[in-house]
Amino acid sequence: MKDKVILGVSGSISAYKAADLSMRMKEMGLEVHVVMTAAAEKLITPLTFEALTGNPVTCSGMPEPGKDPMPHITVSRGASLVVVAPATANVIGKAANGIADDSLTSILLASNARVIFAPAMNTEMYNKPVVQENIKKLQDQGGFFIGPTTGTLACGDEGLGKLSDVDDIMVVVKKFLRLKRDLAGKKIIVSAGGTREPIDPVRFLGNRSSGKMGVAIANEAVKRGADVTMIAGALETHVSDDLEVIRAFTADAMLEEIESRFPGCHCLIMAAAVGDYKVRNVANNKIKKMDSLLLDLEKNTDILSQMEKLRKEQIVVGFAAETERAVENGKEKLLKKNLHMIVVNDVSRKDIGFGADDNEVTIIMRSGDEITPNKVPKAELAEIIIDKVVELLPGKFVDGR
Ligand code: PMT
Repeated sequence: MKDKVILGVSGSISAYKAADLSMRMKEMGLEVHVVMTAAAEKLITPLTFEALTGNPVTCSGMPEPGKDPMPHITVSRGASLVVVAPATANVIGKAANGIADDSLTSILLASNARVIFAPAMNTEMYNKPVVQENIKKLQDQGGFFIGPTTGTLACGDEGLGKLSDVDDIMVVVKKFLRLKRDLAGKKIIVSAGGTREPIDPVRFLGNRSSGKMGVAIANEAVKRGADVTMIAGALETHVSDDLEVIRAFTADAMLEEIESRFPGCHCLIMAAAVGDYKVRNVANNKIKKMDSLLLDLEKNTDILSQMEKLRKEQIVVGFAAETERAVENGKEKLLKKNLHMIVVNDVSRKDIGFGADDNEVTIIMRSGDEITPNKVPKAELAEIIIDKVVELLPGKFVDGR
């Protein structure tokens, strides 16, 4: 059966882009029902959407005698997703405050489906506290916002307020429709970011991890219903409020936080770049500038190897950050740390790995299976990794333990 999606179109100049969006959704095999506000009908005709989607369009006015008297109920029934694109400040405001004075706002109230809002408006309007409050209200109720983006607006201003690219909206639509709750009831620990081993009160030994990979995995696991705790070192990326984050900046602190939670979890995913060494004698005061300085380093405890000793039924996933012989080294780490799966990335490349938005990896399973997805945004890779974790859960160790 096809997924039914409602596309709400409100009155922004960018309403013409909704035509492309409706066509793309239809091409994806979705049953698309367009609902228009009165202002949108002035900017683009319902006929365009009827031709593109093959379905009648629900307009703003009251239904005529002889027609479906309650289109807001009929249309919203069975819908998997509502996408409001473009979403004006007016529609956002009405939806946030339970006002249902036309078909689209009535459907937003009548439907239980997830709603994606793609705002488009003038920068000043978008930045108004009341608009931001309305957005926050809808987000708190589960509404998802994509954009707006920055650029030249229809009014001629440069700034934030442009409708997101149709391609980007489609990525979110696909994600939401594939939303599986296949991790419901599972407790997952994800480590992310880089550790910082102190040298003295102002200096540390660190690495270039931004945390993007770990955060993407944690987000994906949350989306799929898991109870996720993210143990994070230094992060250079946005973390959403609905993610439980425990900060742990050194390998020892990370070990302590993970160790205390590990017995109660179903899966540990170590995406953090944990420093292999720490300074043996951390100086209490800032070290004075000298001609040369020798640091005495000692090895940090390997967290994954330590968890191996505590392991019962947990699924354990490691990463390998390599600059040469990546797959061979990754395989060695998988066996040495007795992992179920290892995600190997070549961190010598600038376009993937540390700090990048994309990653290209080889995923090696304990069974010997390997997959090499194309280079994709980290959020997409996270979906692939979590798919693999789901296949392993509830898991037994392949060597029978
Ligand atoms: O954070 P981003 O900027 O998005 O970059 C992502 C990433 C490159 C950091 C990520 O994809 C990645 O590769 N993470 C692992 C980095 C790493 O520490 O790799 P490693 O090969 O040194 O370690 C192997 C595994 O052992 C890792 O899962 C690591 O978390 C773990 N480890 C390492 C040291 C230690 N003391 N204890 C550990 O458990």
